[in-house]
Amino acid sequence: MHFTAVLSFAVLLAGAFAAPLSTRQETVSNVTCTDPKTTLDSHTSNVALLQICGGIAGTIEKCQGAPKSTTGQSGDVLFTIKPVDSGATINISKGRWEQGIKAAFAVCGQNKPFEATFTGGASTGDVSVTYGTA
Ligand SMILES: *[C@@H]1O[C@H](CO)[C@@H](O)[C@H](O)[C@H]1NC(C)=O
Ligand SMILES: *[C@@H]1O[C@H](CO)[C@@H](O)[C@H](O)[C@H]1NC(C)=O
Repeated sequence: MHFTAVLSFAVLLAGAFAAPLSTRQETVSNVTCTDPKTTLDSHTSNVALLQICGGIAGTIEKCQGAPKSTTGQSGDVLFTIKPVDSGATINISKGRWEQGIKAAFAVCGQNKPFEATFTGGASTGDVSVTYGTA
C-alpha cells in the first residue's frame, strides 16, 4: 500500500539521521559565518574548491605537494587552507575537503562565506579553512 510504503521510508530516514555523523563525514568545528548577507556563485565555488594544492580535479584524490598553506580561486571566489599547527603541511583528501565544506554550508547556508576548523587534513593536527570573496 502506498501509505505503508511512505511510513517505512520515513522510519528508514529517521534511522539514517540517528547514525553518528562522525563515522561518515568530516567533522568541522569553530564555524563562523563571516558574511551572512552574501551568497557566492555555486558553479564558481565548485570550480574554486578544485583549485587547492595546485589542483585536485579528476582522478587526484588528495592535496599534492604537502604545501604549508594553499588557496583555491576561481573568479571572485577564494578558499584558503592553513594548518592549525604551525609547521604542519596540508594533505587533506578530496573527500574530506568536500564533506567539510558541505558541513560548513549546513551551518551558514549554501555558498555563504565561512571560517571553520576541519578535523585532520594536515601532517599533524587540523586545518583552518576560509571561504569568501577574493
Ligand atoms: C577555534 O578558534 C580559536 C580562535 O581562532 C582557536 O584558538 C581554537 O584553537 C579553535 N578551535 C579548534 C577546535 O580548532
Ligand atoms: C596526512 O598525513 C598524516 C600524517 O602523516 C597521515 O596520517 C594521513 O593519513 C595523511 N592523509 C592523507 C589523506 O594522505
